[in-house]
Parts: sequence; structure tokens; C-alpha cells
Amino acid sequence: MELFSEKQPLRVYLSKLKAQNKSIGFVPTMGALHKGHLSLIKKASKKNDIVVVSIFVNPTQFDNKEDLLKYPKTLEKDLALLSEVNCDIVFHPSVEEIYENNVSSNDFKFDGLENQMEGKFRKGHFNGVGTIVKTLFEIVEPDKAYFGEKDFQQLQIIKKMVEKHKINVKIKGCAIYREEDGLAMSSRNVRLTPTQREAAPFIHKILKKVKKKFKTEEISKINNWVEKKFKEHPILDLEYFTIANEKTLETLETKEFSKKNRAFIAVFAGKIRLIDNIQLK
Ligand code: PAJ
Repeated sequence: MELFSEKQPLRVYLSKLKAQNKSIGFVPTMGALHKGHLSLIKKASKKNDIVVVSIFVNPTQFDNKEDLLKYPKTLEKDLALLSEVNCDIVFHPSVEEIYENNVSSNDFKFDGLENQMEGKFRKGHFNGVGTIVKTLFEIVEPDKAYFGEKDFQQLQIIKKMVEKHKINVKIKGCAIYREEDGLAMSSRNVRLTPTQREAAPFIHKILKKVKKKFKTEEISKINNWVEKKFKEHPILDLEYFTIANEKTLETLETKEFSKKNRAFIAVFAGKIRLIDNIQLK
């Protein structure tokens, strides 16, 4: 496994591999790796000759300073995990290496996808994500890049960015990887107190019930039921719950049986923000 912290040597190294017609699969991450990340890497290694993983906690996508400061950083452990899977190259740049003297994001238009859900509650978040992912794509120039459905809105936004900016990379979505009790794996889960951790699988339980209810109940009734369930909950606070069209991410008032619908949720356990989603149809 090769480790790079500077973009130029990485470019040179990759260009040699590309000259040998090796296909490049890319998995961008912010580190604090868990089995969810590893599932993306395993998928990438099945379909590509070379797998590149980036580890970079991108400051421009954090709307909350404390969240950025407290974001877990576990490089040694991450490298140990990566050496056990088929990861060939790790790119771990500094903030200066990526942003030089200008830590800011570009303004992206994602045809309105950026105004829904996470976009409403995390101002500027998707401009930060678009900026870093586009920059990383320009450095790595992968054939395929892998993103988790855990951040479903992010996945759709990256697909849109690639389409609008005509970036030559195939975006592959990967299923949500969960703990045995249903909690979606997340780097932020390690920050949960034991009580919060015990409570957190409730989120997936609710989503599974929503999926059942979706077959027979009106959306407004489901929305009310979810709100009530979280109002009654002693530990988890609902930030949003919405049933939306998978493509446009627009909130639905009535079911669209001919299209794919998905339920999305964001919940606070104390200061820790957890997101999850489930496909309904
Ligand atoms: P990060 O949260 O580290 O996630 C890296 C990738 O792993 C993302 O594509 C995310 O959707 C995926 N992932 C995280 N948890 C997962 C799970 N439980 N199951 C499946 N996939 C999961 O997302 C980011 O970093 C950043 O926004 C990034 C794209 C790297 C840009 O900075």
C-alpha cells in the first residue's frame, strides 16, 4: 500500500499505472474508517485493478465548527484497516495541500437537489462537498468512484455534478452498511454516549415501520406518526423526516407509485447528528 500526502507525486504515480491500462477505482472518505467504508473499498477492488482511498476531513463542508473540531481522527487505525483490504493507494493530504491559501468552496448548482433536506439544515454543506470531490476527481482521475447510500443526497448530488461538469468518471452507489442492531455505521457513532448508542437503533426501527406503513397509509399520517414517536422519545430529537422522490429529492405530499420513493431522516442524540434513509419502493 502506497501512502501519499502530496498531489503531484500521486499524479505521477497514477499516470504510470494508467499508462499500463490499469483501471482506477476511487473511494473518497474523511477517515475514522468503519465497515461501511470498507464495504465501498471491497466493491471498488472487485471492479478495478487499483483502488485509491482518500482520507481528508474537508473543512469547507462543515457548517458547525464544533462538529469539525470533534470529528474523529484515527489515521494509524485507518491505515491498519486499509492494509487488511485491497487498498493500493492512500491519499492523505493536509488542508494546505488541497486549498493552498484559500479555504473556501465554489458555488455549485445541482438543479435544486442542494436545497432539500441536508441542504436546508447544513448551509453551504454541498458546496463544500462539491468542491472537495471535484478537486479529488481532478487529482485522481478515476474510472469509477464509490459513494454510500448512507448519504443518499450526497450520492445524487455527485452524480449531478459529474453530469453537469462532464467529468469522465462513473459514480457507483453502495448499500448502507449497518450494525447488527440496525444503526447505520457512521464515523460519528463513536461520539455517542453508551445511553445514546443504545437508543440510536430506534432510528432504523422507525424507518422499517415507515416502509411497512407506506404500503397502506397516507404520507401525512406517516409523517405525524414519526413526529409523535420522536416527541415521546427521551433521548433522540427529530430534526427532519421526509418522504421524497429519489431522483428530485423533492418532498412528497402524496405517493408516486410510478417512481422510486425514499424516506429520509436526521436525528440529534445530544449534539451528535445522525442521518439515515430507506427505500420505500
Ligand atoms: P465519509 O462520511 O467518511 O464517508 C465516505 C463514504 O463512505 C461516503 O460515500 C459515505 O456515504 C460512505 N459511507 C459512510 N457510512 C456508510 C455506511 N454505513 N454504509 C455505506 N456507506 C457509508 O461522505 C464523506 O465522508 C464526505 O462527504 C466525502 C464524500 C469524503 C467528501 O469530503
